[in-house]
Amino acid sequence: MAIRNIRVMGDPILEKVCKEVKEMTPRTQELIDDMFETMYEANGVGLAAPQVGVLKRIVVIDVTGEDPIVLINPRIMETSGEQTGGEGCLSVPGKSGIVTRPNYVKVKAYDRDMNPIELEGMELLARAFCHEIDHLDGHLYVEKVEGELSDVEEEA
Ligand code: NI
Repeated sequence: MAIRNIRVMGDPILEKVCKEVKEMTPRTQELIDDMFETMYEANGVGLAAPQVGVLKRIVVIDVTGEDPIVLINPRIMETSGEQTGGEGCLSVPGKSGIVTRPNYVKVKAYDRDMNPIELEGMELLARAFCHEIDHLDGHLYVEKVEGELSDVEEEA
């Protein structure tokens, strides 16, 4: 496994629409492992493939640190409710902003063995599903921020 370079806002790759994954390959398995390692190393809760420069519809999420989720070709099937809260992104370092998202999100996707899966998320997980799937369509949370982005103090 290896830590990959995280692209930051302004990099045109973050604005592109990613391609569906047609088949699993050893190279894609390695990408998924690297995405987890890169996300954990950066203390993130989610990472999408375009953030490491790969235009494929792959997302990794772990909102608890003990519950790694891989979503391949994810689609949001259902949402309900609303939550308004702070959000950040590894591609927008040192910043956060207030974003309103659904409070419940159901997604369909494939796991890393290309088995179909269906997952439900509430609160932070619902937010992560929306945020990461937006990346696959070239969208950053900053487009949805209410008010101004604020500076986040770097961890010591
Ligand atoms: Ni992000």
